[in-house]
Amino acid sequence: MKAIRAHEYCQPDGLKLDDIEPPKPLAGEVLVRVKSAALNFPDVLMIQGTYQVKPPLPFIPGIEVAGVVEALGPGASGPAPGTRVMAQCGMGGFAEYVAAPEAAVSPIPAGMSDEEAAAFALVYQTSYFGLAYRGQLQRGETVLVHSAAGGVGLAAVQIARALGAGKIIGTVGSDDKLGLVREHGADVAVNYQTGNFVDVVKSETGGAGADVIYDPVGGAVSELSTKCIAFEGRLVIIGFTSGQIPTFKGNHILVKNYSVVGLHWGYYRQMKPEKIAQGWRELMELYQRGGLKPHIGGTYPMHRVADAMKHLTSRQAVGKIVLNW
Ligand SMILES: NC(=O)c1ccc[n+]([C@@H]2O[C@H](COP(=O)([O-])OP(=O)(O)OC[C@H]3O[C@@H](n4cnc5c(N)ncnc54)[C@H](OP(=O)(O)O)[C@@H]3O)[C@@H](O)[C@H]2O)c1
Repeated sequence: MKAIRAHEYCQPDGLKLDDIEPPKPLAGEVLVRVKSAALNFPDVLMIQGTYQVKPPLPFIPGIEVAGVVEALGPGASGPAPGTRVMAQCGMGGFAEYVAAPEAAVSPIPAGMSDEEAAAFALVYQTSYFGLAYRGQLQRGETVLVHSAAGGVGLAAVQIARALGAGKIIGTVGSDDKLGLVREHGADVAVNYQTGNFVDVVKSETGGAGADVIYDPVGGAVSELSTKCIAFEGRLVIIGFTSGQIPTFKGNHILVKNYSVVGLHWGYYRQMKPEKIAQGWRELMELYQRGGLKPHIGGTYPMHRVADAMKHLTSRQAVGKIVLNW
């Protein structure tokens, strides 16, 4: 089979298109013939060796895919061969075939395309956990979503709306993304490169601040967010696309009565797998009600994975970028 591989930790141009043996599904695994694979920011970090997960070399990147079940490993009970599925394989997705644990493979709901299915699971689960569980979002509360036109950001905007948030404010890095964020459910969109989002949040909330702040950016954006967080607000740390790790002052957290909470969604698989299953059920209910739809902001043939990664890190990308065989 054809597969994209990192032979050393490298920049996107260092990835190779190799011809290798397809994987054999182990006990409890499902072998999927991949049609589409989503690109995620962690893929770029993983090939550079800067992600919290450092796979041994050589490895095939690609966290999640959509395709068709080819075969079941010993003891796996389904989905049956021929079923259209989305799979969270963790890595190995940028290949013609990938094996994934049965629990990480789900049938694609009717009406969802392969590209949407590939792009759904990671960002929507992350944003659902970030808002509903770690952020404890209540109906009517104000939500500030940073980098709201990005993968997890746009999912967070849609989920906040579906969960009954009050006002949703989204930040973006350029003016051309403002309209998209509003189209997907934000009441207010602000360019945080040229505008002052702290002032916008204060004026939009009558000075009260945002109850939940969803932050995949880190650095100064996180630190500034503590200036516009509400009494008993929750600042949810999702990632560091800025490349900067924020620092917080304990006395400020105490005096203003807010919380800074982290989310490492993948760690729930190990620590609380039952929560993953619960979150997936709740998320699919929201999907069935019609409020959630991945926005495919770009597609590339698999052999152009380096261009797709450069697009993602250029800050020009919106929604999800998908690679197709
Ligand atoms: N905690 C978890 O469990 C979890 C799960 C999934 C992903 N994540 C993390 O969430 C973050 C977002 O992931 P994603 O896949 O959805 O990516 P993404 O949002 O599509 O990432 C690209 C966007 O990041 C923004 N960005 C801000 N500063 C940037 C900079 N200095 N350089 C490049 N981009 C910058 C840009 O949008 P603007 O310019 O419009 O802001 C850019 O378009 C990543 O850090 C990822 O590791 C965490």
